[in-house]
Amino acid sequence: MTTQSNNTIPGKIVTPAELRAVASDGTKLRYAFMELAAEIPDAIALGRGDPDLNTPEHVIAAAKAAVHDGRADVPTPAAGLPALRAAVAAKLRADNGIPVDSDGVLITGGGQEGLYLLIQTLLDPGDEILVPDPRYTSYDQAITQAGAQMVLVPTYAEDDFDLRPEEVESAITPATKALLIVTPSNPTAGIVTPKNLRAIARLAEKHNLVVISDEIYEQYVYQPSTHLSIASLPGMYERTITLGGVSKTYAMTGWRIGYAAGPPDFIEAMTAVKGAATGAAATVSQYAALAAITGPQDVVTEYFGIYARRRQLMMDGLRELGFSFSEPRGAFFIYTNAASCGIPAFELSYLLLKEGHVLIFPGTAFGEKWVDWLRISLLQPEDKLREALDRMTTVLQRHM
Ligand SMILES: Cc1ncc(COP(=O)(O)O)c(C=O)c1O
Repeated sequence: MTTQSNNTIPGKIVTPAELRAVASDGTKLRYAFMELAAEIPDAIALGRGDPDLNTPEHVIAAAKAAVHDGRADVPTPAAGLPALRAAVAAKLRADNGIPVDSDGVLITGGGQEGLYLLIQTLLDPGDEILVPDPRYTSYDQAITQAGAQMVLVPTYAEDDFDLRPEEVESAITPATKALLIVTPSNPTAGIVTPKNLRAIARLAEKHNLVVISDEIYEQYVYQPSTHLSIASLPGMYERTITLGGVSKTYAMTGWRIGYAAGPPDFIEAMTAVKGAATGAAATVSQYAALAAITGPQDVVTEYFGIYARRRQLMMDGLRELGFSFSEPRGAFFIYTNAASCGIPAFELSYLLLKEGHVLIFPGTAFGEKWVDWLRISLLQPEDKLREALDRMTTVLQRHM
């Protein structure tokens, strides 16, 4: 979007009015806020969900080796490097209990491409897909572009944003083809509890639904919560596509490697779409992902400890500010209700960025009705999080 006036920078969106103009599209809204933050040199970014930690050294070494010995020059089959497909299948069998082999795995350009290809392959115009709200709005775009209909299923703060089976069932119509589950969730950091997941699996069987299970945050689940893959439940592998990737688990967003796993005939159909669109994922990144998945996993434990400390620090700080939230069960976000400060969350996000130089996305970037909510990501070191809390306090004192 290009706008010009005295207080705008050509090509940049910098006024609340201009932000509002894109407010109905969650993805555009997030990007508009990020553009604005990019103009503020000392901005503390608690917006995007991309890990700030470094990619593990042994992963970088594997990528360098692939470049130096000429393996990176060679494109892989569209479905991915056979060794990586096998490694993902082995991981899903061992860690997640999903009975998948290599032919049930497609390597994608990040989870993002995985979700897009999946939606395009699965949904036809007129199909309905159930999507828990609030949501990662990249799904909105993919669903709209497939000509399908998104049907929102509400989730509730008082349930810690678990997904209620009865809400799922009441949203089902004869046109419902699929159900999306994102656990742990972006933006709420809630999880679907095993009990509800089992009940939802029974509904999927009863109503013959395909389940898309986006488990990109699966490694970051805080005790006593636990992660369960719906595809591991009896009868569910046949009707479930599981999405995952290395971006979140191994701090590898820029390497762009994700995967989709499910019944081989569906994966073959997705691979045809991928082949036509982009061909295989970058070879060098596939070797890096192979090292990440098959190498030492202590780095994940280390990252988890870092996120857990940040989570505690931010929860303590938000409580002092009078914000309410349900404790994050997973991922690295806090979805908080800011109604107590009396400023609509959209305006509050804008004020926090313009005056406090802290980037936090308004809840409306994840669904129209979340006008009192903010999503805070924990992807800054602890000293920056403390500084962000101080700045938030100053802005709030000025306006309340
Ligand atoms: C729920 C969810 N799925 C998928 C993705 C895509 O991740 P990536 O493309 O970095 O693997 C994201 C990224 O934020 C996400 O939040």
